[in-house]
Amino acid sequence: MMISGLEDVVAAETVLSDVDGAGGRLVIRGQRLDQIAGVLAYEDVVSLLLAGFVPDLPQGDRLATALGAARGDVFARLAPVMDQLARLGPYDGLRAGIAFMPDGSGRDDILRLIAAPAVLTPLMIRLGQSLPARAPDPELTQAADCLQMLGREAADGAFARALDTYLVTVCDHGLNASTFAARVVASTQAGLTSSVLAGLGALKGPLHGGAPGPVIAMLDAIAADGNAQAWLEREVAQGGRLMGFGHRIYRTRDPRADALKTAVRPLAASPAAAARLAFAEGVEAAALGVLRAKKPGRALETNVEFYTALLLEAVGFPPQAFTCAFAMGRITGWIAHALEQQAAGRLIRPQSRYVGPGSALAS
Ligand code: CMC
Repeated sequence: MMISGLEDVVAAETVLSDVDGAGGRLVIRGQRLDQIAGVLAYEDVVSLLLAGFVPDLPQGDRLATALGAARGDVFARLAPVMDQLARLGPYDGLRAGIAFMPDGSGRDDILRLIAAPAVLTPLMIRLGQSLPARAPDPELTQAADCLQMLGREAADGAFARALDTYLVTVCDHGLNASTFAARVVASTQAGLTSSVLAGLGALKGPLHGGAPGPVIAMLDAIAADGNAQAWLEREVAQGGRLMGFGHRIYRTRDPRADALKTAVRPLAASPAAAARLAFAEGVEAAALGVLRAKKPGRALETNVEFYTALLLEAVGFPPQAFTCAFAMGRITGWIAHALEQQAAGRLIRPQSRYVGPGSALAS
């Protein structure tokens, strides 16, 4: 039997995360997302995901210090090429910048890879806006330093906390497309940079990590139109997909959507920010109504990307860099899965069925 989307096919055993699509629960190494988002720092989650896979990984404050040093290392390695990278735009610049990292699987390679998107993303944004690059500050957390490099002098507690919660929320998610891609490459025993680049490539598409940018475009189009209900109905009638809704695994609300909705609330302090959030909540309610009416039986609910878009917008990322922010959180998941796959030692090599000229199935 051929299953083109591999749905329900189990292709790996993992100790890393469990996605319960029917119950709407996500568990990261035994801990429920709703109990760790907003509680653990991203650095804690790096420790959690890599425990047992990287025996010499520093712990606690020493991990934060090591990641700070790794950000400095990445910045120095990229200095000669950063202007050329920035000309590619945020996502393509990030991909090309990561390709500059050595393709090993040791502790320093891992720290450098985890640090790389947190350095490259603000760098690509600032240079793309013809602003001077800002060097990392090794004393800060990964989230606060990313905002500092972005130029938010107020690497202000509330914004850094919201970004930190976002990074924790997206750190890992079962065998999603990008993680599967990273595991396929790791199964060949290639290095971690190669695995991460495979994951990053898969993340780009709008059916995976490329959705939050289009969420903003959708919200802006609805605001310009003035009639959310009519706009959404038209979009679905024309066969369009409402960005930030639906999921291959979740048949109920994506638990990450709620974690991010909670995280974005403290950022809505100004009247303009509060109005933006209220508008988005109205669009969400209207979209869910339209999907229930027009796609009955499909169980299409809000996914992680809807509130990702609002959070990243509030924190100060331009929509073209949203996928980079996703990579900043998910990279630790890719690395942990790649190490788990390398240790499993089995090449992933499925079959295809030939339906071309000369085959029994050719028409
Ligand atoms: N808006 C309108 N219709 C939808 C949507 C949507 N967002 N999602 C699914 N459908 C419809 C689809 O048109 C199809 O209808 P019909 O059977 O009448 O043709 C039905 O629902 C089933 O669609 P499917 O393509 O078989 O479902 P899937 O499991 O492959 O889709 C998905 C999962 C995420 C690709 C899809 O829901 C989608 O395109 N969503 C919008 C993009 C988006 O938000 N992506 C981010 C995903 S979450 C991030 C992550 O974890 O990677």
